[in-house]
Amino acid sequence: EKCGYPHFMLKEIFEQPECLKNCMRGRINADVDKVTLSAVIDYKERLLAAKRIIIVACGTSWHAGLIGKQLIETFCRIPVDVEYASEFRYRNPVVTKDDLVIAMSQSGETADTLAAIELAKRSGALIYGICNAVGSSIPRATDTGSYIHVGPEIGVASTKAFTGQVIVLVMLSLALAKEKGTIDDQTYNDVVKELSLIPDKMKEVLEQNDKIADLSRIFTYAHNVIYLGRGYSYPVALEGALKLKEISYIHAEGYPAAEMKHGPIALVDSDMPVVVIATHNAMYEKVLSNIQEIKARKGRVIALVTKGDETISRIADEVIELPKTLECLEPLLATIPLQLLAYHIAVCKDKNVDQPRNLAKSVTVE
Ligand code: F6R
Repeated sequence: EKCGYPHFMLKEIFEQPECLKNCMRGRINADVDKVTLSAVIDYKERLLAAKRIIIVACGTSWHAGLIGKQLIETFCRIPVDVEYASEFRYRNPVVTKDDLVIAMSQSGETADTLAAIELAKRSGALIYGICNAVGSSIPRATDTGSYIHVGPEIGVASTKAFTGQVIVLVMLSLALAKEKGTIDDQTYNDVVKELSLIPDKMKEVLEQNDKIADLSRIFTYAHNVIYLGRGYSYPVALEGALKLKEISYIHAEGYPAAEMKHGPIALVDSDMPVVVIATHNAMYEKVLSNIQEIKARKGRVIALVTKGDETISRIADEVIELPKTLECLEPLLATIPLQLLAYHIAVCKDKNVDQPRNLAKSVTVE
C-alpha cells in the first residue's frame, strides 16, 4: 500500500497534487471562475453575520490556521484569532454567539480541539469544522464544515493534510468574501484561476526531489536549524521546523524573518543552517537583507526562491526554485521542499520517519 515508495510519508508528499485536485473537485470551477462550498450555501446568513472568527487547532493544523487568518483577514475583512486548542479551552476565553469558530483537525479526534469546540458551543458560537477523517468526532460535534478529502494520512508527520487544509481555507475565504462583497472580481477570478494551476506547479516542485535528497546529506550534521519566512511564508517556516523536529530529532525553530535581529541572530555561526523562504513578493527586498545579515555571520543559507531569481542564488549556499504563483498561494508550493528536506535528513540519519519516537497519529488524550 506504499505504492513502491519506501515510506508512507514520501508517498503522501508525492500524492499532494492529486489530493488537492480531489479537494477542489466540485468546488472550484475555473471555467466560470467560481468557488462553491456547500457549507457556505447552507449557513450563509450565520457566516455573514460573524463579527469575529476564532480558529482552534493543534500542531500542523494550527499552522494552517495561521495561514487562514491572513487569507480571511485579507479577503473578508473579518478579524481572526488563531488559538492553540489546549490554551483556549482552559483560559475562560471570551466567545459570543456572534463568533464563528473554525476547528481544524486532520484526524478529527484531537482531544483538546474537541474540548475547545464544546466550550465554544456553550456560548452559542457557530462551529465550522475543517477535517480529513470522515465521520470522526470533530465533524460530528460541529454545526457545519468542509472536509479536506485528501484520503487517509498514515505517516505520523502531517503533510498532505496541511496543504489540503490550506486549500480549503483559500476556498472558504474566497466564497465568504464573494458573499460579503469584500473582494473585487479581478482578485477573485485571479485566485480561482491560479488555484487550478497549483497541482501542476506542485509537480514541478516535486521534480526537485533528487536535488533536495542530495543537499539534505550536507545538513545531517546540524543540531539546530532556523527557518525564516514573512507574511504567508511565516507559518510555512513554523511548519518546516516542526517537520524537522518530529522526524529527524534535530532542534529547529521557525521565526518571522524580521524577528531575527531581536534575538535568534545571536545563534548564527558557520555551523548554523538557516532555511529562508525568499520568494519574489512584496517582502522580497527585506528578506534579502535578512539573508545578507546571516551570510555576514557565516550562517549557511538554504533559500527557497522564485524560479529565475539570480540575486539570492548568488549569495545563498543552496537554492531551491519554486514556480511563480500568487503570494497567497505560495504556502502550497513552499511547504513541499521543507517536507522533503525533513524527510531526507531523517532518512539519512536512519530514523523511523513514519513512526517517530514519542508521537502518535491521533492525540486523543490531553
Ligand atoms: C505534525 C502533527 C501534529 C498534528 C496535531 C494535530 O506533523 O502531525 O502536530 O498536526 O497533533 O492533529 P490533528 O490535525 O489530527 O488535530
